[in-house]
Amino acid sequence: MAAEILDGKVMSERLRAEIAERVTALKEKGITPGLAVILVGNDPASEIYVRNKGKGCKEVGMYSRTIRLPEETTQEELNSEIEKLNADSAIHGVLVQLPLPKHLDEQEALAKILPEKDVDGFHLINAGHMLTGTEGVIACTPRGALYMIKSTGIDLDGKEAVVIGRSNIVGKPMAMLLLRENCTVTLCHSRTKNLAEHTRRADILVAAVGKAGFVTADMVKDGAVVIDVGINRVDGKVCGDVDFENVKKKAGWITPVPGGVGRMTITMLLDNTVDAAERTVKP
Ligand code: GUN
Repeated sequence: MAAEILDGKVMSERLRAEIAERVTALKEKGITPGLAVILVGNDPASEIYVRNKGKGCKEVGMYSRTIRLPEETTQEELNSEIEKLNADSAIHGVLVQLPLPKHLDEQEALAKILPEKDVDGFHLINAGHMLTGTEGVIACTPRGALYMIKSTGIDLDGKEAVVIGRSNIVGKPMAMLLLRENCTVTLCHSRTKNLAEHTRRADILVAAVGKAGFVTADMVKDGAVVIDVGINRVDGKVCGDVDFENVKKKAGWITPVPGGVGRMTITMLLDNTVDAAERTVKP
């Protein structure tokens, strides 16, 4: 039987309607949730992501500001932009679009963002909350992916979850979130031996590799939940890390690309920003 498609557009529409209601309620209290995105340089993929973040804000009635800095921006200039946004009461969420140009230190920039305005969940404080399972901001992509996994209604307790990719943005936090759901988690990466032996055990398989069509049907267990985090461009067409056409014949559930996790990432970013704005409301 063909897999059920986990449609990020449909899920996002429902969630964004709820977010828009919370934005309206905040505006009635005189607060317009605001997101600032800093984009350094001219990376074409980042340009698209940043544009979509701005569109998402508009859709739910939030304020958004994009700060474009030239490729040759120094660390001091970047840090100073972040500090200005930290001090700006119109801004509840600050996001530095990654990757940064090579001469800039990503960790230094992320550490400058006030943890309560870190709507990406990348600050060490929030990464620590994720690790310990205490309350903090959860990174948008893994949060969106987990929402999609949970939407299947399957009981995650004791399930085998395999994550491919160990990035700080997706792989590591994804593994932590699945662990918090009591999955038995295997985190695979480019040095993993016999990758397919791991992936074939997976009840939940998350691919965050960055290679088009990397996950093939022979690597997937019958009935598995397959979450495709990849966004690759092949001949001008956007596709994921999973060979969607063949894997969907074997999986129980699968996310498409586009229209899957990417859409949910922005929805979670909007949600994290509204959360941050709500935290500023005085009781
Ligand atoms: N680059 C790719 N994905 C992301 C993300 O979720 N946040 C930021 N800041 N940069 C990214």
